[in-house]
Amino acid sequence: MSVRVVSLGACFVLIAACGNNTVTSTTGAGGSGTGAGVGAGSSGDIPCDVHDTLVEKCQSCHAASPQFGAPMPLVTRADLRATSSNGSATMAELAVARMQGDSGSMMPPPPNEQATTAEIDAVQAWIDAGYPARAAGETCQGGTGGGNGGLDCTPDISLQGQTPFEMPSTSIDEQVCFGIDVPTGDLKRHITTIAPKIDNATIIHHILLLQAPNSVSPDPTPCNFVDPDWKLLYAWGPGTPPHALPDAAGFPMEAGETTHFVLQVHYNNLNGLVGETDQSGIDLCTTDQLREHDADIMAFGSTQFSGVLPMARTQLDCTLSLPSQVDSVLPITIFQSWPHMHTVGQELHSWLEGPNGERRLVDVDDYDFEYQITYPNNVQLMPGDTVRTQCIWNNNTPIERSFGEGTNDEMCFNFVSYYPRIELPFWNWIAPSFASNCSMTTL
Ligand code: HEC
Repeated sequence: MSVRVVSLGACFVLIAACGNNTVTSTTGAGGSGTGAGVGAGSSGDIPCDVHDTLVEKCQSCHAASPQFGAPMPLVTRADLRATSSNGSATMAELAVARMQGDSGSMMPPPPNEQATTAEIDAVQAWIDAGYPARAAGETCQGGTGGGNGGLDCTPDISLQGQTPFEMPSTSIDEQVCFGIDVPTGDLKRHITTIAPKIDNATIIHHILLLQAPNSVSPDPTPCNFVDPDWKLLYAWGPGTPPHALPDAAGFPMEAGETTHFVLQVHYNNLNGLVGETDQSGIDLCTTDQLREHDADIMAFGSTQFSGVLPMARTQLDCTLSLPSQVDSVLPITIFQSWPHMHTVGQELHSWLEGPNGERRLVDVDDYDFEYQITYPNNVQLMPGDTVRTQCIWNNNTPIERSFGEGTNDEMCFNFVSYYPRIELPFWNWIAPSFASNCSMTTL
């Protein structure tokens, strides 16, 4: 299976013929449908205090026809009284546990807004009362759902597989990576907005957009973890809006060069559906009307740790004092954080401290490898600042872990997006992690 830029390959070869940045888009990228808002208003047979929570917090995925890899609907009384996959509880009971984060990933997963204590208590009270039906004449409010927000630009580059990926019915979980090379024409361009384009919402779980130093195979290849040489530009999961970069900056696509994009797409097929295919991807708005600054990515954290001990909690503390040459080109503005660890990661904290006080970049208390999301920032890194990164692992396996990209390896990175790009010969995206001083503690 080969993969390439489908919509506008010809335009990039013949960019002059395509005019400037207003090339026609492919399909309606818009909000790229989260499926939010399904589960229709006041219909149904569940009392409103429970019904409204399910509509607003759950049914963007657990709809009558489940979306984004969710295994079952949570729409009718019968759905909630069904026995869960672990056999011993009802779906409603399991829902309470998952909303409290007691078993498995938090439901709803981030970045979706969590259920409140009052909402969870209402579901528990309904269970305790024996799952009564909605009273005759009771009309519910819920049903507006979420929504993704629109796009205020027209995408001109569409990154997706040329042919649909075929999800094996025998696999519940697949992560595939494939490369897409986009040659830039004679004029440098800036990527200004990045948006998901969702094809088959039944099986898609998340999408990462990365940039590689070299060309990556266009054939979908299983990849459980991202290569540490790849820079993360955008991470999408159900509920994540498109990302419009700050007005002052764009990610550069240099004139006459080729940008090597990589898509990592994660699929769920918990129900073993047969014949599911998908061609989801990412849309980009780019322009040759360049913005003031080039944006770039760098990774805070460490590339050199070991000693994530088995059956223990360990904490890595890293401190980065910026070299004086970097200090002299500050300030820069950090506009996004993407915390990244592997499967036994539990917490990640990243902040700046210095003459201007402490400024937090990201605090993740319950890191979940299955739901990796970006966090918006608007923080300045100033001369004299120190960058601190703290990772905590809860390694409840018998295997000791150290830094690496394998299944039994771990990572501790906060990838930040920032501008203006630091242009120094010895500085690259991973330099901050190499230059950090770190220490490991058993908790
Ligand atoms: C963004 C999509 C999404 C939203 C929103 C969401 N879920 Fe889920 N849910 C999933 C996916 C995907 C799975 C399967 C993977 C897993 O178990 O973590 C799942 C699994 C579950 C399960 C486990 C089912 C089983 O048989 O093991 C329960 C229970 C659940 N969700 C309850 C909820 C509740 C309650 C809400 C709302 C408060 C909710 N979910 C909101 C995507 C979602």
